[in-house]
Amino acid sequence: MSITTLLLAILSTLATTAQGTTVLETHNTNRYRPICTLPICKSCPTTQQLTQPGIGFALGMEYGTAAIRYHNKTIQSIIQVQGSPAYLSLMLDLSHTTPQTRFPDEIPTRRGKLEYVRTRLQRLANKALGRPANAQTAVLAEMITQLKTSVEDTLSAGTSRASITHAVISSPDSIRLTSEELGDVLDYLKVTNAMALPDELFAASAAYAGFGHGLCAKYTDPDVCDRDENNRPYQRVLHLDFTNKALTTTIKGMRSWNTWGVDASVIIAELGYEHHSDDDDGPSDLFFDKIRDHIRNFTLSTRFRITELLFTGTRVGGQRFKDAVSAALRDLVAEDTMKTVEDAFRAYDEPDFVFVTAKGAAEVAKRRLEGPVRAPMALPTLIPAFEPVLRGAGVGFPVGLAVPVVLLGSLFVGLSIMVYIYYLTLLATCTSVKKILD
Ligand SMILES: *[C@@H]1O[C@H](CO)[C@@H](O)[C@H](O)[C@H]1NC(C)=O
Ligand SMILES: *[C@@H]1O[C@H](CO)[C@@H](O)[C@H](O)[C@H]1NC(C)=O
Repeated sequence: MSITTLLLAILSTLATTAQGTTVLETHNTNRYRPICTLPICKSCPTTQQLTQPGIGFALGMEYGTAAIRYHNKTIQSIIQVQGSPAYLSLMLDLSHTTPQTRFPDEIPTRRGKLEYVRTRLQRLANKALGRPANAQTAVLAEMITQLKTSVEDTLSAGTSRASITHAVISSPDSIRLTSEELGDVLDYLKVTNAMALPDELFAASAAYAGFGHGLCAKYTDPDVCDRDENNRPYQRVLHLDFTNKALTTTIKGMRSWNTWGVDASVIIAELGYEHHSDDDDGPSDLFFDKIRDHIRNFTLSTRFRITELLFTGTRVGGQRFKDAVSAALRDLVAEDTMKTVEDAFRAYDEPDFVFVTAKGAAEVAKRRLEGPVRAPMALPTLIPAFEPVLRGAGVGFPVGLAVPVVLLGSLFVGLSIMVYIYYLTLLATCTSVKKILD
């Protein structure tokens, strides 16, 4: 090898390293090449990534469901998997918990602290060995595996076996499985959480999206999408999920599907349809009276005026249930909202009430895979982080202390601005990639 060739080889290696990319995967990415010379393009999406379908899974009290949202905007319901005894008992246990009770800020006793450390270490060890992080992960993974296999069967064509790489999972609003809990399940199955931090998706929002509400039209442009979603009227949504195993009631204020927070949510296992006691002409009146009273009390307790109703679950289509809902809400919702109850039932068949949550999750997954998200989060988080420093410097600190504080603060601000510019560039690049693709 001549010296020149060697030099050239070294130079080109250096250039490639400086670019920070291993010269983008060459197959079918030629169109991106001209704008993907920056290191940030390490994560430049390929056509294949941008056009891949979004996969949504919904975990309910009784069953799990899966749906696929294709690039051509078609959404397909895939499968409903009945929960195993272990799944049913896990969900029942979880129904009495919230993220705060599962992950408390304070553990009062020393024993509790030790136990906490032990379970954390056990979790890490299990994950390192490729095992489910804990018992809950194992049970949820068993459910997700069945859903995932069906989705993969659907996507497989002829001899080539498709395996999914991303998914979004929704869980009931009162349980709110955290990114960590879902991450443990998905890590075990080697699937990426397309939702990921800092977002989470819960049933009411997923169902809202599944029914086509609160979705901006042009989701690949974050500015246009934000403006669109922020201009929508604020709705106070009552979500009722009724299955054999439980009645779940949730109230949530929403402008778009991704509005954060929930006003109230509760799962009542005793009001699952299987707990009705039959008399001669079907389920007893007493059972539906209890359902009526619960829905009424729950809605009254939040003191919100409901403007929109969402129904999901295998049992919402029954006439007795509809009558109970109407009786419960007669004077608690706007007149035209009550009309939409009937419209809601007329417009959809029962399978939609079962699959709508998974369909919404699939739509969200597709949007997350295709549209640039999260980058604009950098700025708002900077300001509160820097606030104590500003306040500290102003409130008569000893000069000796104020100087390093201000210096460190400036360094921090400088770094943060650089990080923010980096994110903006990333956003701009990815947006232009998308435009070229369009
Ligand atoms: C969209 O794509 C899916 C899967 O390729 C196909 O089954 C479906 O019919 C398509 N829908 C439309 C409207 O083209
Ligand atoms: C609803 O509230 C009323 C009055 O506070 C109470 O008597 C009743 O037991 C409650 N019913 C349910 C199902 O919570």
